[in-house]
Amino acid sequence: MSGNSGSNQMWGGRFAGGPSAIMREINASIPFDKALWRQDIAASKAHVGMLGAQGIVSAEDAALIADGLDKVAAEYEANGVPENWDLEDIHMTTESRLAELIGPAAGRLHTARSRNDQVATDFRLWVRDAMDQAELGLKQLQLALVGRAGEHADSIMPGFTHLQTAQPVTLGHHLMAYYEMIGRDRSRFADARVRMNRSPLGAAALAGTGFPIDRFRTAEALGFDGPTDNSLDSVSDRDFALDYLMAAAQCSLHLSRLAEEFIIWASQPFGFVTLPDSLSTGSSIMPQKKNPDAAELVRGHSGRIVGCLTALMITMKGLPLAYSKDMQDDKPPVFEAASLLALSIAAMTGMVAEAKFRTDRMRAAAELGYATATDLADWLVRQANIPFREAHHITGSAVKLAESRGVALDQLSIEDLKAIDTRIDDRVYAALSVEASVAARCSHGGTAPNEVRKRVAEARVALGLEDQA
Ligand code: ARG
Repeated sequence: MSGNSGSNQMWGGRFAGGPSAIMREINASIPFDKALWRQDIAASKAHVGMLGAQGIVSAEDAALIADGLDKVAAEYEANGVPENWDLEDIHMTTESRLAELIGPAAGRLHTARSRNDQVATDFRLWVRDAMDQAELGLKQLQLALVGRAGEHADSIMPGFTHLQTAQPVTLGHHLMAYYEMIGRDRSRFADARVRMNRSPLGAAALAGTGFPIDRFRTAEALGFDGPTDNSLDSVSDRDFALDYLMAAAQCSLHLSRLAEEFIIWASQPFGFVTLPDSLSTGSSIMPQKKNPDAAELVRGHSGRIVGCLTALMITMKGLPLAYSKDMQDDKPPVFEAASLLALSIAAMTGMVAEAKFRTDRMRAAAELGYATATDLADWLVRQANIPFREAHHITGSAVKLAESRGVALDQLSIEDLKAIDTRIDDRVYAALSVEASVAARCSHGGTAPNEVRKRVAEARVALGLEDQA
């Protein structure tokens, strides 16, 4: 961990003494930024390839350096990245090992760049991969949602507002609501990726460089759409990381809400779902228990992911241009959020794909709580031409009567209903079943099974499961 107490071999030229133990420890980012090693090697290879092509270093030195970087990468791959606090970060760790392997030519790699543009480049590359991975994982979740929604386009369950029974809906419709949410999450990651895909490499410390570099060439080599356009902005910008965290935080809120649905549905009084054994745990004391721990942790992790976003926002606020060392703290929250998000997406994908929906219990619950009261009111509007407000009032009286008798609306006799309003006749019963209720809601985006099937079919095309009809 600790090294010699002399001055730093990379930047110690102007220093008489070395840093204190506390300085070395607080300064070291290698314990976490070693996760950037692949990106660091890739960016260095792009940089040295450009230096060679531009004649800024000789072709021999460029080849020697590129070859040495491959050797360092192979060592990291085989043995991990060594952690020496005196080498501070992944950039100096790699350069120092390169020097051990190839000698003084290694010192030419850092021509026309700084750790400021280097870290901005590495981190962008890392975040870009994280965006791609989130997108990929979310697509799997959408596939699971669409699969189950197709199975359950006709399965009736109570729909809630305020978690009070409101109107019957179909389980397919409910699951497709999450398909829409996850679709917006995917588009947020995709948008952010487009915005961030510019290369800061060559901005150097903050002002650019006098060497005749080719920033377009390095940008292209690293898969960027082009170089960034202001060197100060290039080294001080962490919007890409914030965009990622914002997309991740919002996505995690959706996952948390979905997790919460499963937690409620799996509770005994609801009994709407049996969770897969593979994503549940038992209790050490109550043998009958099967706990929705994975869902609860997804719900919990969303709090941590939002915390990561908050952490980086607060780190960045008020920093003057250009680079400040505070910005070294950008990485832990992004790394943490990325691993929590990947786990959360995978857990919810498994849960959706493997849950056993207890459609009989859902159907029975949809019968409770006067879920078709709105259908009675709508019937009065349509069949008896009664203004909706008045129909709402008449229906209220019917619900009150049914409640006092402890029966469902459609169990009231026609005499009882006529006593409430003479304009009611026995055609009304056809409107009071939960099947009739959902079938009636056929407005665009409504819960009618045919509407749900239509949206599922569109989703299958969008996900590449089917060719455009
Ligand atoms: N480890 C640093 C970071 O992650 C690299 C940049 C250091 N730049 C500097 N001027 N000290 O931010």
